Amino acid sequence: MFVSENLSVNSAGHLAIGGVDTVELAKEYGTPLYVMDEQVIRNSLRRFHDSMNKYYDGKGEVHYASKAFSCMEMCRVVASEGDGLDAVSIGELYTAYKAGFPMEKVGFHGNNKTDEELRYALKYKVGHIIVDNISELHRLEAIAGEMNEKPSIMFRIKPGIDAHTHDFVKTGQIDSKFGFALETGEAFEAVKEAVNCKNVHLAGLHCHIGSQIFDIAPFEEAARVMLGFIAEIKAKLDFVVEGLNLGGGFGIKYLNEHDPAPFEVYLERVSYVVKSECARLGVELPKMFIEPGRSIAAPAGITLYTVGARKVIPNIRTYISVDGGMADNPRYILYGSEYDAVVANKANEERTEKVTIAGKCCESGDLIGENMPLQHAESGDIIAVCATGAYNYSMSSNYNRLQKPAVVFVNEGNSRVVVKRETLDDIIRNDI
Ligand code: LLP
Repeated sequence: MFVSENLSVNSAGHLAIGGVDTVELAKEYGTPLYVMDEQVIRNSLRRFHDSMNKYYDGKGEVHYASKAFSCMEMCRVVASEGDGLDAVSIGELYTAYKAGFPMEKVGFHGNNKTDEELRYALKYKVGHIIVDNISELHRLEAIAGEMNEKPSIMFRIKPGIDAHTHDFVKTGQIDSKFGFALETGEAFEAVKEAVNCKNVHLAGLHCHIGSQIFDIAPFEEAARVMLGFIAEIKAKLDFVVEGLNLGGGFGIKYLNEHDPAPFEVYLERVSYVVKSECARLGVELPKMFIEPGRSIAAPAGITLYTVGARKVIPNIRTYISVDGGMADNPRYILYGSEYDAVVANKANEERTEKVTIAGKCCESGDLIGENMPLQHAESGDIIAVCATGAYNYSMSSNYNRLQKPAVVFVNEGNSRVVVKRETLDDIIRNDI
């Protein structure tokens, strides 16, 4: 009935998340409100690292991609599960550091890291810096020399697989701002140079083929391509690549018709490809890293809104306006991403209408979705939009000077604020 397994209808007929009544949450904390179920986050992390242990003999690490949802409490949860972190900016690094995250388990990403960011990563001794381009390699070599550090790096490689849709193609990804191209020889030249660098240690290769991917085949193909490259490096340079980071991108269920493969199957199949290709090519089994973001955070979260206006335009559509919108969830206006929604205080009723849920921003495109099946919604009702745990809070803005909502974690029947709602004073904090 609901897209996420942790959602149910309680005896009051209300939507519950992790056993907690969402209507009560809206009353207690106000709306708009992001709610995340901590147990779902923990279970997803465990499913990933348990499968890594089972199918890859424990020779791997799961690094949660914190761009999906980052705050100090999230970093603490990931740390307590023993997993690592993928951070993509100094802000995400700072959040992890301040939360006491073990920085040696952090991979630092970014296609255009600043010198300040590189220095910060060296100062706090992150586990790997994932180098995107040759000028970054040169800058890092110089900065590491100045700081008397020798960081471990990985190279981000474009494996030539475009998997942004349900199908995948094996060409045409040279035109990407991320990483070194294989086809042109750019990646090999960079490896040749890095092997001889004094101040960095080339510890691995990285690729990330896209996001919200349902199919496992493109991940298998990416692993094959990367192992071919590892074998080429060994043959031509006599250099052993110790680490292979296969990125994130596992799809989740936003709508009932979505049917992503379970993480376990993904890890079983990809581990098999990596092991068998290593045996076939005669290369050492690399340590494997994966970087799931959306698949950890999205299914754990919902967003609660209060309905304001109901506007029926006969023969055209019905607008249900809520007290949030593109400022807390820009994914419909950006990508046309679809969500499932429920009237939380009428969760046991039939969804009898198809409506457009509109936000409160001064922008016609500010919608949460169109043609959404919903219970009859009136002013004062609470709407829950499901599977909003990833790329919603992390992509939120203060457009129209709206205050960012609070984030509440629920865990085994209890709730707590992990990010406070912004105040009006927060809105003018940096104004002179
Ligand atoms: N690793 C790297 C290097 C990445 O670039 C990303 C996502 C991930 C891991 C995590 O991917 P995930 O498992 O979350 O799919 N804002 C977009 C998604 C952008 C993803 C960017 N990179 C959205 O809202 O759909």
